Amino acid sequence: MQNADQFWNRIAGKYAKRPISDLENYHKTLNRTKSYLKPDDHVIEVGCGTGSTALLLAPYVGSILGTDFSRSMIEIARGKAQAEGVSNAAFQTADVTKPLTLDPKPDAILAFNLLHLTKDPAAVIGNLSAPLERGGLFISKTGCLKPKRWLFGPLIKVMQLFGKAPFLNYLGVEELERLIRAAGFEILESDSYPAKGISRYIVARKV
Ligand SMILES: C[S@@+](CC[C@H](N)C(=O)[O-])C[C@H]1O[C@@H](n2cnc3c(N)ncnc32)[C@H](O)[C@@H]1O
Repeated sequence: MQNADQFWNRIAGKYAKRPISDLENYHKTLNRTKSYLKPDDHVIEVGCGTGSTALLLAPYVGSILGTDFSRSMIEIARGKAQAEGVSNAAFQTADVTKPLTLDPKPDAILAFNLLHLTKDPAAVIGNLSAPLERGGLFISKTGCLKPKRWLFGPLIKVMQLFGKAPFLNYLGVEELERLIRAAGFEILESDSYPAKGISRYIVARKV
């Protein structure tokens, strides 16, 4: 059986070339995120993949560190930062299931399209809450596939057997919001983009 990071290492090249499937909603959530960030903020994006979002946010913050447990994703992200001449973005490997040691402490932590890929999202959200001071932001976008499990579940199971899909946690929106609150956050906004889609965008503040 392959390790979870091996799946992402294997598909990193393809992932980098894949166009964003719903650009309009991607930009809506990107703009919502920008509206919360300040020019001198130090931001961490966990599960940053090939760094596209971190590089787009870099001009709006003081510094941004993208982390991902896939070495191949991080190599691509570093290459893009260098090619685009972005000097306030850095990328390093880190597994979000392990406690984060961050110096300096971040003003905001971002996790886009990540939590539903983890077996214990409560523990992961706890790891992300720990380094934030009171008032620090946790901004996430998560596939909430619970209502569609009957539809996608069997196909995904077969794909997983052949190594063509990663582990998926079938989360529901209410459950996700409860986990975020339980980790010490208040929720400032929670919406789906598109409105009937499975992707839940949540902005939360540490209390
Ligand atoms: C669906 S991609 C999303 C990438 C990027 N955030 C985006 O929205 O395009 C999920 C990413 O999470 C990373 N990932 C999955 N599990 C992880 C873990 N436990 N720790 C760190 N990164 C992880 C994968 O390597 C992959 O790059």
